[in-house]
This record gives sequence, C-alpha cells and structure tokens, in this order.
Amino acid sequence: MNILTLGIETSCDDTALAILEGGSTEVGDVISSQIADHSPFGGVVPELASRKHQEALLPLLRALLAKTGVSPRDIGLIAVTSGPGLMGSLLVGVMSAKALSQGWGTPIIGVNHLEGHLYANIMSHPELRPPFLCMIVSGGHTEVILARDYGEYSLLGATRDDAAGEAYDKAAKMLGLGYPGGPVIERMAAGGDPFAFAFPVAMRDSGEVEFSFSGIKTSLRTALLKAKGEIPTADVCASFQRAVTESLLVKLEIAVERTKVGRVTLSGGVAANANLRNALVELGRRKGFEVFLPPAKYCTDNAIMIAAAGYASYSRGGRSDLSLTPDPSWKIWT
Ligand code: KG4
Ligand code: ZN
Repeated sequence: MNILTLGIETSCDDTALAILEGGSTEVGDVISSQIADHSPFGGVVPELASRKHQEALLPLLRALLAKTGVSPRDIGLIAVTSGPGLMGSLLVGVMSAKALSQGWGTPIIGVNHLEGHLYANIMSHPELRPPFLCMIVSGGHTEVILARDYGEYSLLGATRDDAAGEAYDKAAKMLGLGYPGGPVIERMAAGGDPFAFAFPVAMRDSGEVEFSFSGIKTSLRTALLKAKGEIPTADVCASFQRAVTESLLVKLEIAVERTKVGRVTLSGGVAANANLRNALVELGRRKGFEVFLPPAKYCTDNAIMIAAAGYASYSRGGRSDLSLTPDPSWKIWT
C-alpha cells in the first residue's frame, strides 16, 4: 500500500483534515467551515478564526479517523499548511501537527497553501504536466503562477489591491447579500443582464499581467448610491460577475501569449464560479490552449490538496521537523 498522508489546513476560515493514499487517492476528508461565525462581520475576523480552529481540530481528527477506519499508526506523513495565511490560524494547525508528529512518531512536512491550490489541479488531472500556468483566485489571492516544473514556480503577475474573491465579498456586503459573496452573487446573477451596468476592467490595455479590483468596487458603490435603494440586484450581480471574469481573463491571456505555455489551470474559491470556468474554456478554444479545471470541491480550501502537495514535496526529498514555524507571507515563487 502507498503511504497515507494526513493533511491539515487551517490557514484561513476552514478547519479541514484529510487522508490521502499516495499522491492522489482520497481516503476521506472532513471540513468545518466558519462561515456562520464570520458572516455577521462581512469578512473573516482573525482572532475568532484561530479560536474556532482550536475548538474544531481534534474533534474533526477523531471523526476523520472513525469515518475512514484509519489508525494513527497507519499514517506515514503529516502535511500541514504553514503559510501563507493568518498567523493565529496557521499556528493552530502547525502546533497541532507538531504535537501529533511527536506523539505518533510520524514525519511532518510544512506545505505552502498556494502550492496546495496548484496540487488541486495536479491531483485531479494525472495527464497535466509542467510547464503550466495556474491562476489562483481566492479570498486572499489573485496570482498568475508559472509552474516551470514540480516545485519550481515563477510569479507572472498579481493584484495591486483586492483579491478577486475579496471583491466578490465586498460587493455582496454592499448589496446586503451576506458572506461569502462569490456563491451568492453567482446565484443572484442567474437571469440578470450582464450588460446592464458597465463596471470597469482595470488596466485593460496596460499589456501587463496585473490586476486591480478597487475600481469595480467604487463603480458599484456609485451605482448603488444613484439607484437610491431601487436596485435591480440580478442585473448588478450579473454585470459585476462579467466585469470580474473579464478582468481576470484579459490578463491571463497576456500571460499565455507571453510564456507560450499552452496549458492553463484555475484554482482557489473563485475558480468554482461557472461564469469564469465557462469563459476560460471558451477562451482556450478560441486561442488554442488547453484548460484544466479542478472539481468545485477542490477549488475552495481543503486538506486533500494540502496532503497532495505535502506528499509530492516529501517524495522529492522535502522535509520539516519540530522546528517548523508558520510563515504568514511565505512565497513559493523564485
Ligand atoms: O480558496 P477559498 O476557499 O479561501 C481563501 O483562501 O480565500 O476562497 C474563498 C473565496 C471567497 O472570497 C468567496 O467569495 C469566493 O472564494 N468564492 C466564489 C465562489 N465560491 C467561492 N467567488 C465566485 N464564485 C463562486 N462560486
Ligand atoms: Zn485558499
């Protein structure tokens, strides 16, 4: 039997644990979302997040072991997200992983959360080989990364201000639609007119792989003030979604042209958005590049992708030990 890896993810507002066999066979996973806790605040409250991770982690581990029938002595590796993310939240995962590692005598490896998002694609598509491009679009990230090889990455461009998911979350807050904003805006956009409002696409013609979402946000605020409460929500959401999708794909297209890399993947919570997924597939068809999309379950934060990235890194010779410390701004690119 292949080695079993326990993945632990606590970098933001999901406490997630999973067991993976080898590099891509899911044995089981459990996840506890803190959405209900943070929702009244319209975003993640860091102090609250770490407290909730602490409450959830060990009961989730017990549930995972019971559900999968796996015994701690069968686990050959513990892979834990050790950055980037919220310091308090990362600490809960890393400290728990170190305690388990010491108690069980199991090797431990620190995993970069963004490399986890990349592995959501690699584990879903065995035929996907580097070099490939990955656009990571989540609540905290909007980055286009070139995977030159396994474990070797370059940053091609990033956001200058808000992340794409953050833009969705802030827009939903302005519209009084709750948190997280992406899924609810996607739902509300169904049936709306995507051309009703002309929200701007920032730096469309700059020729650079760079993003900005503050202009769309301001433009939405102005539209809402003008509407004086008479808001055609479906039209606003559909137009907002169109503008975000276009802002992302205009720049991804530049990255493809510049690198001549013909394989493109998406990852992160916003990658679950059907409008973005369909538009990317269509763009790939028009421009002649291959598109690989992870299943929606692997787009948002999960521990399966962390176990997969940890196992791959361990197989390449990567090692951590009990001196492992979280790095909230750990970069994977060189
Ligand atoms: O990757 P993720 O679960 O956590 C972070 O690392 O941030 O991403 C969460 C983000 C939130 O901002 C949420 O609004 C957005 O992803 N999101 C979506 C959708 N589902 C989640 N955005 C657009 N459409 C969706 N269907
Ligand atoms: Zn994430």
